[in-house]
Amino acid sequence: MSTYNIALLAGDGTGKEVTDEAVKVLKKTAEKYSFDLNFEPALIGGCAYDKYKNPLPEETLNIAKKSDAVLLGAVGDSKYDNLPAEVRPERALLGIRKELNLFANLRPAIVYPELTSVSPIKEEVVSGTDIMIIRELTGDVYFGEPKGIEIRNGEKFGYNNMCYYESEIRRIAHIAFNVAMKRRKKVCSVDKANVLDVSRLWREVVSDVAKEYPEIELNYMYVDNAAMQIIREPKQFDVLLTGNIFGDILSDEASMLAGSLGLLPSASLSESKIAMYEPIHGSAPDLKGRNIVNPIATILSGAMMLKYSFNMDNEYNAIVNAVRKTLKDGYRTQDIMQDGMKLVGTDKLGDIICSNI
Ligand code: IPM
Ligand code: MG
Repeated sequence: MSTYNIALLAGDGTGKEVTDEAVKVLKKTAEKYSFDLNFEPALIGGCAYDKYKNPLPEETLNIAKKSDAVLLGAVGDSKYDNLPAEVRPERALLGIRKELNLFANLRPAIVYPELTSVSPIKEEVVSGTDIMIIRELTGDVYFGEPKGIEIRNGEKFGYNNMCYYESEIRRIAHIAFNVAMKRRKKVCSVDKANVLDVSRLWREVVSDVAKEYPEIELNYMYVDNAAMQIIREPKQFDVLLTGNIFGDILSDEASMLAGSLGLLPSASLSESKIAMYEPIHGSAPDLKGRNIVNPIATILSGAMMLKYSFNMDNEYNAIVNAVRKTLKDGYRTQDIMQDGMKLVGTDKLGDIICSNI
């Protein structure tokens, strides 16, 4: 029986509640499909700062590096808002992405038929939507230097640097084209090439890489237009290829097609075997400890782990189908609650999904 070691980084806020449910579902899947999962917990974010004065302790990084895959909940809490930037919880997330070289972030935005009426957008617009956002995750204005806040001309001046090396654009473009080859063979590359130099390079490099994929239909869209088109006609998109910050913004927007931020999973891949799986949402500290947060995004992130790290397509489908069956049977957390449906807590929803595996 194969055994996989998973670094379990629950993080802050509702991170523990959602990862608990994902672990439950993964264990049930492992039992059913005869493989073994070992979870090794480690601290990240505010909770790590509280203990070590460091949101990303060396020990956590080592556990992550030794593992076969990392499952992460979320980081951040308003109680850390006044900490210096270098030790804020979010810094740990950026740090682990960079340290593990997780440059390719896959964020599927799928509108399941069971939930089309939950979306704030009209049913006929969202139904059938299946977009894969490929977000570059280790570059851009998130990591660009120089950056800072200083005094210039007698007043405060804040700045960051939006920048990409050609090689960084090239490798994420390859990921997008390869993913698209297994889907509907369409890539829309998002940029702001009418204004930004870095975007002009982005477009030039993407079009060059595209020559190696003659079967792919490639188009380009300015990010402002893309934000509008995602709402107007989401079904036009197959793979959306973006830089770090545009992908951050557009993936939150795309979650509203599905109906809730609590539904979208993600996979962050590197060039080596190591990968990390996390919901696209944050730690939602206001929901913490109330057993009301939606665990589906994290449960589906666990499913993505089985598919992308361990090549377990059947097991991935088993989890997705169990989630869909649960929704079809009318079980809902508060964020996706509707008339006539059955409102359940975080742990109960996880239990029902397990029973449907
Ligand atoms: C995300 C989050 C993070 C990001 C934050 C928490 C640093 O919004 O994963 O989308 O901006 O990447
Ligand atoms: Mg985000």
